[in-house]
Amino acid sequence: MPHADSAFIPSGLNKTQFWEHVYDQLSALLEGQRDWVTNLANASSLIYSSLLAHEAFGDGDKAVNWCGFYIDSPFFPTPRVSHPTSTEGAAGQRLLLGPFCGKPACQFINTTPGKARGVCADAYIHRKVVLVPDVEAYPGHIACDGDTKSEIVCPLTLRGDREDISLGVLDLDCLALNGFTEEDKIGLSRIADLVVTACDW
Ligand code: SME
Repeated sequence: MPHADSAFIPSGLNKTQFWEHVYDQLSALLEGQRDWVTNLANASSLIYSSLLAHEAFGDGDKAVNWCGFYIDSPFFPTPRVSHPTSTEGAAGQRLLLGPFCGKPACQFINTTPGKARGVCADAYIHRKVVLVPDVEAYPGHIACDGDTKSEIVCPLTLRGDREDISLGVLDLDCLALNGFTEEDKIGLSRIADLVVTACDW
């Protein structure tokens, strides 16, 4: 099957069935590949394209307008060729913009204690899904796109025998208020866990 066909969405799926379908498609798409950049690029594309193809999300003014990842800076590859400014983006405690679909977005999210703010930082620090029905009512929300009205952010957590490691977050934005529901929270959390276990970190 051509890779692009994995984003085909059969009609008539309710949200639970939709997320199960996307999970299965993503599982197949990530098989045999463990590079996180490659896998997160395909994951953001598959989620975004699938949402746009689903009747509950795809309508113009209700559409999901951004889907992507912010990853803890130490996980990014060390440059092979150094440059005077090349470490600038990796300094301090921060998440850096990873693979995504949608318009350009903030390059980093500060997670330094006392300076952290925003939905992504909260989901990352507390390792909890944050569902935001109205971004303007969320204290500290960072507006990468003034058109965004609601948001959901899932933490990416690598579970270990001794400790869990926070890797980053999966972030989705929507043009409508109340764009995401508890069903989306469950579906996206499973997908976030799939992405984590499908990659080498
Ligand atoms: N709104 C996020 C920032 C990332 S963008 O939505 C892509 C936040 O408050 O952390």
